[in-house]
Amino acid sequence: MTLLDVQNLEVTYPGGAAAVRGVDLTLEAGQKLGIAGESGCGKSTLALALLRLLPAGTTVGGRILLDGEDVLAMKWGRVRAVRWAGASIVFQGAMHSLNAVHRIGDQIAEPILLHRRATAAGARRRAGELLEQVGLPAARASAYPHELSGGQRQRVMIAMALACDPGLVIADEPTTALDVMIQAQILRLIEELVSEQDVGLIMISHDLAVLADTCDRLAVMYAGRVVEEGPAARVFDDARHPYARALSAAFPRIGDPASRFAPAGLAGDPPDPSALPGGCAFHPRCPVALESCATEDQPLRLADAATGRRAACVHAGAGAEEAAAVVDTAVVHAPAADTPVPDTSGAGGPGADGDDSGATGSRAGTDDSEATGPGAPGCAATSDAEGATEAAGTGTAGTDGARSTTA
Ligand SMILES: Nc1ncnc2c1ncn2[C@@H]1O[C@H](COP(=O)(O)OP(=O)(O)OP(=O)(O)O)[C@@H](O)[C@H]1O
Ligand code: SF4
Ligand SMILES: [Mg+2]
Repeated sequence: MTLLDVQNLEVTYPGGAAAVRGVDLTLEAGQKLGIAGESGCGKSTLALALLRLLPAGTTVGGRILLDGEDVLAMKWGRVRAVRWAGASIVFQGAMHSLNAVHRIGDQIAEPILLHRRATAAGARRRAGELLEQVGLPAARASAYPHELSGGQRQRVMIAMALACDPGLVIADEPTTALDVMIQAQILRLIEELVSEQDVGLIMISHDLAVLADTCDRLAVMYAGRVVEEGPAARVFDDARHPYARALSAAFPRIGDPASRFAPAGLAGDPPDPSALPGGCAFHPRCPVALESCATEDQPLRLADAATGRRAACVHAGAGAEEAAAVVDTAVVHAPAADTPVPDTSGAGGPGADGDDSGATGSRAGTDDSEATGPGAPGCAATSDAEGATEAAGTGTAGTDGARSTTA
């Protein structure tokens, strides 16, 4: 059975921001799906919706089938049981996501006590095992979060996410605040753990290159919609949607000096989700827009039958080469004034690693009801939505207390 089947998911915040619009996604057990897109395109909203962690008053429509069970139709008791044990979330900003006044061993043990009905000694033992699994000595269980480095705290968050053997792990920008070396270690760790345990992984990042390297499939979001989805390498190397192509071209390729010294960009900003343009939401920025794009939106449709790639563009139905040629003109090469002359000898240079240097928009310890500041837990288990309300046919959760955004 498909592990996760998201059908026509719509999320509108109380102020009217249509942050997720008609998203369809599937994920099989053991599969890794990357979700990319510029800041504000709805990636975190999608992640929060999957476990009903959105603020009260948010309207949610569509279906989210987790192991065949509709998350949006679940009673709150069932939602609490599913968080951690069925699916868990690792949020970025581990510094803010761990409770500063509790030892990390106790924080890892908490969901085990709650969901596995373990004894205190059993939960402590399991917490030690999990720490070892993520590469930390079990003895560090007695440490407080401030006694760990950023990378170690992120490892603790991953241990917490794995504590109750969930079938699905959602990692929302798990490495954005970390340096490149630690970022690579954490990504490798997540990758190894999910493949060892046959867990499904949704990895969210601004960094298409990192996702292409880590995930089996990639979904690119723009203005709340998935505009392209398919095998990770194909979407990264040969996107069919002009936006996905421009996003991909923004990352330098190792071994391709031209892309390193002539950074590609895309003019303009994503639209405000409360005031979306008509037609294709990308049309005001799209260099290959047709006149009809201002009034006609395009559904996500099969663009490449061989790979099951889907794209939401009027050009996506064209033959493979023709489509690639058209959308390629969407990439605007914009070398900075002080860009050095390209060294075509292939020697390395600054910025040659394709690392995530433009990360922005971190989220600190998202939690829906218990988050009260720096000590707010960042994983879903402690996020039981006390006082949450449910509108008919929609799923809403309590308050999103720690939903702060830092630069
Ligand atoms: N609680 C909220 N109330 C109203 N609007 C919100 C709320 N949270 C997010 N939004 C809006 O919804 C849109 C999508 O936000 P979201 O956090 O999902 O984006 P994102 O893709 O995760 O961005 P980033 O890459 O910066 O983390 C944004 O326009 C944002 O301003
Ligand atoms: S549908 Fe039109 S505006 Fe939208 S991405 Fe394709 S060409 Fe550009
Ligand atoms: Mg986000």
